[in-house]
Amino acid sequence: MILITGASGTVGRELAQQLLETGRPIRVLTRDAQKLSTLKGRVDIAEGDLSQPETLYAALRGIDRLFLVTSSTQQDAYVLQAGKEAGVRHIVKLSTFEAVDPKMAEHVQWHREREELIRFSGLAWTFLRPTMFMSAALDWAKTIREEGVFYFPGGEGRVPAIDPWDIAAVAAVALTKPGHEGQAYALTGPQNLSFGEMAQVLTRVLEKPIRYENISDETAVEGMRKAGLPEYVVEGLVGTFAVLRSGRLSYTTNDVARITGRTPRTFEAWCRVHKTAFL
Ligand SMILES: NC(=O)c1ccc[n+]([C@@H]2O[C@H](COP(=O)([O-])OP(=O)(O)OC[C@H]3O[C@@H](n4cnc5c(N)ncnc54)[C@H](OP(=O)(O)O)[C@@H]3O)[C@@H](O)[C@H]2O)c1
Repeated sequence: MILITGASGTVGRELAQQLLETGRPIRVLTRDAQKLSTLKGRVDIAEGDLSQPETLYAALRGIDRLFLVTSSTQQDAYVLQAGKEAGVRHIVKLSTFEAVDPKMAEHVQWHREREELIRFSGLAWTFLRPTMFMSAALDWAKTIREEGVFYFPGGEGRVPAIDPWDIAAVAAVALTKPGHEGQAYALTGPQNLSFGEMAQVLTRVLEKPIRYENISDETAVEGMRKAGLPEYVVEGLVGTFAVLRSGRLSYTTNDVARITGRTPRTFEAWCRVHKTAFL
């Protein structure tokens, strides 16, 4: 059986839906079963906390493949230990492009660390390394609704943002088809868009003028601290913004198409699906 962690989150939610459509039995992990009430009766729901290893053993019983979303190296270590005891064979880990960019290492050591822990665990692994999620645009929804503008420290940088649905589609293949063990996939959307071009897409979809306004890192940091992000995440994101502005993220890969047999979805398609969040 497959266990999906992060099943109430952006990618895990899509993955649960896609695997359900194949008729496969799945189990989902959450700290609060209420959050997954729409899945009740259709999937096995396990309550557990990745930071409390004693809660993981029951959730992992009978599981051989695992979709893993964590927020600390300690959580990966707990899952590995409990997973080995439970007989898990293959972990498909939601990692990030940041795990392999040498220039980012000092800001985001933890991504690399977590991959290494799994790589040398003795279990089979697949790493998914997506770029920025298109759903990050939801952070801009409030100012888009209220002022017709979004603020981001992206400068003139371009980014091949990816629809979380496509990340889930790759995860579904890696979890259910052979041949993905020991592979790391660089997952991007189909286009490198600047933030100004994203504003043009939003303008078209929302049928009202939307503007992008660049902000300084200092202003972004202030906002992230106000939103309660931990300091190490804030620091990591400032490093990511710098990489993004430098143009080093201006690439696309064909990993999504190669693995799923479908071209990844465009930002415009994502905006149309999520249009109501911006109105
Ligand atoms: N956003 C981006 O642009 C981007 C880009 C590249 C990579 N990533 C990577 O994507 C990952 C986040 O994925 P996401 O956006 O799909 O997740 P998300 O929407 O942020 O949701 C987090 C999920 O993790 C679960 N969770 C949090 N703490 C937990 C705990 N202690 N025990 C059990 N479950 C816990 C939550 O489940 P419950 O609340 O139900 O327990 C929730 O389902 C991160 O590792 C990030 O580095 C993000």
